[in-house]
Amino acid sequence: MRVLISEEQIRQRVDLVASEIRQTYGHEPVTIIGVLTGCLVFLADLIRRLDLPIRIILVQASSYRGATTTGSQLAVNDDVLGDLKGRHVLIVEDILDTGKTLRHMVNLIQAREVASVRIAVLMRKLGRQIIEIEPDFVCFRIPDEFVVGYGLDYNDEFRNLPYIAIYEGQK
Ligand code: IMP
Ligand code: MG
Repeated sequence: MRVLISEEQIRQRVDLVASEIRQTYGHEPVTIIGVLTGCLVFLADLIRRLDLPIRIILVQASSYRGATTTGSQLAVNDDVLGDLKGRHVLIVEDILDTGKTLRHMVNLIQAREVASVRIAVLMRKLGRQIIEIEPDFVCFRIPDEFVVGYGLDYNDEFRNLPYIAIYEGQK
């Protein structure tokens, strides 16, 4: 597999994006909602760089199986969201692809009378988006390739790669 983004590049960008997030919130408490499973590694790295009072909620969202993200049902377990009234919410997601997952998440969260909702994504895949949604924090803009590693999988494999690679196997 071809390395698209190295460990060092990830480290540097996550550092910068974490400081953007810190500056945005000042010292306001933030509720971070991580979209599982892909956010796992990014979330773990990001929160250790945030010098802010935070709470973490993890939500399971599955929108695809294998390499295709089209034609599948989106399932979100939102029972875990609880009372978000008056809170500043930051959604943390691995990748913005079609935009369906993030649109759905934002709608669920906005219905709970939050103070604000923002979005941080590790990657934004160019040329794939079909739902209009603008993330507030983006670490990397990537071409339309299927990527794995640093939390992202192909059929549940490769999440533990420390870098991001282009999956070149059978799709
Ligand atoms: P969206 O709802 O189409 O934006 O899909 C986003 C979800 O699809 C992400 O949270 C990922 O779990 C998954 N996904 C999209 N593209 C890729 C990829 O290149 N590699 C691994 N997972 C992906
Ligand atoms: Mg995901």
